[in-house]
Amino acid sequence: MAGMRQYQKDASNSARVPEPGSVIDIGGTRCMAEITKEMLLHGSAGRRVLSVVTLSDYYGLKQWSKLTHSPTYYQTSDEILLLKKHAAEVSNYIVPGAVIVDIGSGGLRKVMPLLDELEARKVTVFYFALDLSKEWLEESLEALQSRYTHIKCHGIWGSFTDGLGWIKKFTAGPKVFLSLGSTLCNNVIPVAARGLKLWADTMAPGDVMLLGYDCNLDERKVRESYQTSDGQFDDFIRHGMEHSNELLKRAWYKAEDWELSREAEFQTEPTALVHRFVFRATRDVKDEVLGLGIKQGERIICYESFKYPTAVLRRQFNLAGLAEKGSWKSPASDIYEFLLVKGQTGADSAQK
Ligand SMILES: C[S@@+](CC[C@H](N)C(=O)[O-])C[C@H]1O[C@@H](n2cnc3c(N)ncnc32)[C@H](O)[C@@H]1O
Repeated sequence: MAGMRQYQKDASNSARVPEPGSVIDIGGTRCMAEITKEMLLHGSAGRRVLSVVTLSDYYGLKQWSKLTHSPTYYQTSDEILLLKKHAAEVSNYIVPGAVIVDIGSGGLRKVMPLLDELEARKVTVFYFALDLSKEWLEESLEALQSRYTHIKCHGIWGSFTDGLGWIKKFTAGPKVFLSLGSTLCNNVIPVAARGLKLWADTMAPGDVMLLGYDCNLDERKVRESYQTSDGQFDDFIRHGMEHSNELLKRAWYKAEDWELSREAEFQTEPTALVHRFVFRATRDVKDEVLGLGIKQGERIICYESFKYPTAVLRRQFNLAGLAEKGSWKSPASDIYEFLLVKGQTGADSAQK
């Protein structure tokens, strides 16, 4: 419990030490408007992107959680199968007293097989779910609270940047980072590797990261996973644009000015199957207060998913200064879990 004790000591004001089940505000929604503005208004290299943070309010997270149950959405079910099958082996890397940070925790049913295994072993650990909606964290933690006695569950409400700042307070004690559901590494390589490295840099010897990633390159399977017969995936994505009006405090987005479509394309150098939602302006869209001028036909990219083969992911791990200790594959598809520690992997294993 050294990590938790050190945190309590460093926090000095014991009021900041969370009660099990509580959600700590480490930055809250302060960041959401900033990220939205930056990406939407000043997109680099001619790309305007609607940040996924616009989809991470209570309504968005609830909608997304429902979508993960759709029959074609293999990403969640296949990763759960993997975690159920290999929970015992993965748990061997988690020591008593560890602080587990679930980076972008979303719906918590995915982490349950792992926590169930630790509970069965009577291993006391401190689980912190990090995400962007306080209400969502509170609601989802309730289910965990009643399930466990050895797992002390908390929420940390804020952005990844806030989470990185917060974790640095754990100057001692073992840490476990969870990045499930392709949360980290899902970007063009230099950007993704930089993001991963920020977390790697906070890791000490003995700390581990469990990184789950969707390496499926079957275009049809991927396309179908982002479609539901009742159009709920589209509603979820459109909600991001509506929410951006609230975040930017300007009604710049009007549904009738935008067409929504999907794209899936194969890339080489590095190999990837990229799926994205695309909003296309059906007329010129302007907002003088925001300094926004979008011409008819211009695009805004949303919810981009990079499906990388394992060799490309391993290159990212290397760039971030992480070495692989183990990996497991889902029995149902090319969803993987990688167990990473700080250190450089040799060239051979990067080719695996
Ligand atoms: C792809 S989902 C994965 C959710 C969950 N880990 C799973 O595997 O089902 C990514 C999650 O990260 C959260 N997220 C995305 N960007 C974030 C940011 N900058 N700061 C904090 N959370 C973020 C989203 O709200 C979402 O819940």
